Amino acid sequence: MAKILIKGGRVISPAQQLDDTCDILIENGKISAIGKKLDSKGAEVIDAADKVVTPGLVDIHVHLRDPGFEYKEDIASGTLAAVTGGFTSVACMPNTNPVNDNQAVTSFILKKAAEDGHCRIFPIASITKGLEGESLTEMGELKELGVYAVSDDGKPVSNPQLMRRAMEYARPFGMTIISHAEDLDLVGSGVMNDGPVATELGLKGIPWVAEDAATAREVMLAEFTGAHLHVAHVSTKGSIDIVRQAKKRGVAVTCEAAPHHFTLTDDAVRGYNTNAKMNPPLRSEEDREAVRQGIADGTVDAIATDHAPHHIDEKNVEFAIAMNGIVGLETALPLTLKLVEEGLIDLPKAIALLTNGPADVLDLPVGQLEEGGDADVTVIDPDFEWTVETQKLVSKSKNTPFGDWQMKGAAVCTIVAGKIAYKRG
Ligand code: DOR
Repeated sequence: MAKILIKGGRVISPAQQLDDTCDILIENGKISAIGKKLDSKGAEVIDAADKVVTPGLVDIHVHLRDPGFEYKEDIASGTLAAVTGGFTSVACMPNTNPVNDNQAVTSFILKKAAEDGHCRIFPIASITKGLEGESLTEMGELKELGVYAVSDDGKPVSNPQLMRRAMEYARPFGMTIISHAEDLDLVGSGVMNDGPVATELGLKGIPWVAEDAATAREVMLAEFTGAHLHVAHVSTKGSIDIVRQAKKRGVAVTCEAAPHHFTLTDDAVRGYNTNAKMNPPLRSEEDREAVRQGIADGTVDAIATDHAPHHIDEKNVEFAIAMNGIVGLETALPLTLKLVEEGLIDLPKAIALLTNGPADVLDLPVGQLEEGGDADVTVIDPDFEWTVETQKLVSKSKNTPFGDWQMKGAAVCTIVAGKIAYKRG
């Protein structure tokens, strides 16, 4: 296997509290040395002067759509989008067809990942069989295959007793329960955030309380059971505060924020833009600011994309019936770096939210740079300016609200297990 020397970059690995200009030598898929002026003999040299070198980025919330919805995305295209965006590990959600609720589907995903994947894949299985909210999956069996977490993402577990049992079941296996926290009765027939924009557009609103009430329930159940709860895509001021307060009480709760929720508001829906439709929806400026404050003060543990590819025919329809979700793998890094540019967080913190932060949430064995460890490395040009050309996105689906946006920052080289999986240009 090729020997690679990444030379003279600003190496940031928050897990090691490393932030220094140095070289990284990669041999046989592992990091063999991190240090100054390492010997480049026999190595392919990647000049990282003026670049930032980080652990491979980790996204714990991705829909790869495989098996069953390969017309939207598949393991090959989704992981190619991932490495293009700088990600070397993705955790994929179970709302496939069939649903990933048993060992057979998990094994299929792992086998296809090994054959076609461009990066590491950690399958998330469902909490309930068929995502039907009625009976629990065999979490112990799933854990045996290396499933770190379970989630009915996209479909909340409505029955609190079932969620309680799920937490009690997951806990001894050390598995995380990822909650899509929405109260469906409160969501009702809403299709966007409840507020002046919805009124103006004549669209039915989803009130913040639909998310806050569900988040509060999940946090209380986690407090009651002692299980580790991870709240996905937190989008409201109230939810952020509920998680913040719960952490202060010592509840085992973590949460993630999606780039669209800290970048956009429901203003983006104007014009009935279905590429600004997702679940939970884009919220008010006050909510967006609260998510940003949650990122700044450590309430938010990870940035995760909720990469949700949909075919153009599923988006090019009346707003109310358009599918929920947007692609995010190729735009997450510059949108996160924007938080640094705006002075909200510093660069090491931004990198932490994309590396050891998400890895720690699910206890994944990735997200750091250490001698002897797996060589998953991302080389970032923080100053690279580019325009999002929707049709050129690597993902099979093009449903992004960031088309034509000017971005700053991109992965220039993504290395997975010591192999170059992506190189810009
Ligand atoms: O917008 C969303 N899309 N939110 C979800 O929770 C599910 C996802 C999907 O699967 O398309």
